[in-house]
Amino acid sequence: MIRQAGLQDVEQLVVLFCSGAKGIRLPPETCVPENRQRLHDLMRAWCEQERVWALSEADHISGMVVVERFKKGRVISGIEYVVVAESCRGQHRVGPALVRHVQTLPDVTDLRVTALNPHSRKLLENCGFWLDPKPNRMWT
Ligand SMILES: CC(C)(COP(=O)(O)OP(=O)(O)OC[C@H]1O[C@@H](n2cnc3c(N)ncnc32)[C@H](O)[C@@H]1OP(=O)(O)O)[C@@H](O)C(=O)NCCC(=O)NCCS
Repeated sequence: MIRQAGLQDVEQLVVLFCSGAKGIRLPPETCVPENRQRLHDLMRAWCEQERVWALSEADHISGMVVVERFKKGRVISGIEYVVVAESCRGQHRVGPALVRHVQTLPDVTDLRVTALNPHSRKLLENCGFWLDPKPNRMWT
């Protein structure tokens, strides 16, 4: 089930987010223990701003997507991060479901996303995104 993430999910989301740190090119200090509280606060803020959706299976979150809201309003103008649990990657299942879910949300304009690695580029192409001449920027 894909649902909007809430404050009760923050703990799991932070762990999941950090499992994708390399793929989403987080600065190395992002996930160190000393920064954990700040990361929690950031994730909580994203949830409160209704920017996070989670694919949950039983009580486990298998993937998450963070969207960009244009000028912090209702309009969703981009996908900022997609992270799938390591054990679920490459199954053509969780990542595509999350991206397609965002594509069908109300208040979506032309979605913009940066393909940060070959796997994410493939995922986005499979979901109908096309590559902008600007390096690695993709649209749908
Ligand atoms: C990129 C990511 C979100 C894709 O989600 P996913 O559920 O794995 O998506 P898919 O299963 O549809 O895989 C997309 C493509 O990458 C390949 N792939 C993804 N993970 C893979 C893995 N661990 N091993 C081998 N291939 C993998 C798939 O085979 C597929 O390519 P194909 O269509 O040519 O077969 C996921 O791999 C992930 O969370 N990676 C770490 C974080 C990250 O890089 N996020 C993207 C930033 S926008």
